[in-house]
Order: sequence, then structure tokens, then C-alpha cells
Amino acid sequence: MRIPILAGNWKMYMTPRESQDMLAQFLPLVEAVASREIVLCPPYTALSAVGELLQGSPVKLGAQNMYPAQEGAYTGEISPKMLQALQCNYVIIGHSERRQYFGESDTSVAEKTKAALENGLTPIVCVGETLEQREEGLTEPVIEIQIRRGLASITATQYEAIVIAYEPVWAIGTGRTASPEDAQHVCAFIRTILASLAPAEAQKVRILYGGSVKPENIKELMNQPDIDGALVGGASLQAESFSRIVRFEE
Ligand code: G3H
Repeated sequence: MRIPILAGNWKMYMTPRESQDMLAQFLPLVEAVASREIVLCPPYTALSAVGELLQGSPVKLGAQNMYPAQEGAYTGEISPKMLQALQCNYVIIGHSERRQYFGESDTSVAEKTKAALENGLTPIVCVGETLEQREEGLTEPVIEIQIRRGLASITATQYEAIVIAYEPVWAIGTGRTASPEDAQHVCAFIRTILASLAPAEAQKVRILYGGSVKPENIKELMNQPDIDGALVGGASLQAESFSRIVRFEE
């Protein structure tokens, strides 16, 4: 009942030219994929080129961040209105790299999530604990605070339109994936928090797992009842590996 999402976060990789080369290989490999959503989140500088190549394809376009105002004197920032003009459907909000290196907080996540929804963009709201927090047994309280504060600005009926990505920080780019059982445990926990905030919508919210997802582990992760997709970093940069992730079990 929840359509799976396989989203590629290209982070700070891929020039427009490199993106075009990747898509020339990737799109033919996934054109027949049905019953799942495929999303590509290139860097801002490649959004336009990628968006043009995705026209007429089932693959959707997403951004990696945005500023929560329509326009204004905010040097270096990109607004939801600008993303919409490029036919973006999705935007990643509060990725752990933005929290770690660029000072993003649950407060900015809340502002951006609200602004994304108001502008017809689906926010992919990222949460996750650090290794230190996990070892101290703080995974659940950390995730609960991130969810409650990060979603504080939206109404119960808007929950249906959001996507959550659970990305344990210690699993990102490390080759160390959470076990399917551990990932499921946290994703199920996230759903119980969502149920307390928006009882009628929680079962409709798609929860993705992210952190060293590869063609070899996607199937086991997707077999978990509360994991509805993946947010993929490194393995989304190559057409061959990302297409195998997208086409798991075909
Ligand atoms: O947004 C994607 C995640 O940070 C995961 O990255 O697949 O390279 O570990 P990764």
C-alpha cells in the first residue's frame, strides 16, 4: 500500500556533463520499472540538465537542500520557488551532513519542511543517531526529538505528504550498513512516534533507510515491514549499481 521510493543523493558529485553521461546509461535500464518511485537528487548546478533529461521519464527530480523563503537577500541560497521552476518534486531536508558541517538544527528542519509542503515539494526529512549516541543507548530518544521538533511546524493532515529517511550517521559512506533488523527496529519506532502525532496518517508515511545501501543488501532491507525505500549515496552515482538497487527483486 505504500509505494516504495528509491532515491539517489548525489551529494557534491557530478557536473552537468557527468550527470548526462550517467543518465544516458541509467534511464534505459529503469524505464520499464513499475510500482516504485525513482528519485534523483543532483547538486544544484546539475538540476537543470538532469531535469531536462528526465522529462517524459518516470524518474523524478529532487534537490538536496533549500532555503525556507520564496525569494530575498539570502546570498548563496536556493528557494522552493526556484526548485519548483525546475520541476523538482522532492527535496532532502536536514541530511546529517548538513547538520554536522553546516549547523542545521531541528528548528531549521521544521522551517524547511513547512516551506517545502507549502510549495508542493515532498520533503525527505532525515534523522539518525551518531555512533556515540548509539553506543550510549540513546538512539530512540535522539530520533524521537529529531522527529518531534523537525515536524513541529506541520499539521496532522500534511503527514501523508512527507517522507522520512532514517540514516544512522555511523552507516553513511562507511560501508557499514545497519542490519535489516536494527534498521527495521528504528523505522518501526519512527512509525509509532508518527502515530502519536498523526494517528490517521502514520501508516501512509514512507520511511526510507539510508547508509551504505548497495545492490547486495537492498532486498533484505526492503523485506522489512516498516522500510519503504532507500536513500542511497555512493551507490547512486553509477548507473549499473543504482539500477540494480532500483530493480531489486525484479
Ligand atoms: O543520502 C544518502 C546517505 O547519506 C547514504 O550515503 O549510501 O554513501 O552511505 P551512502
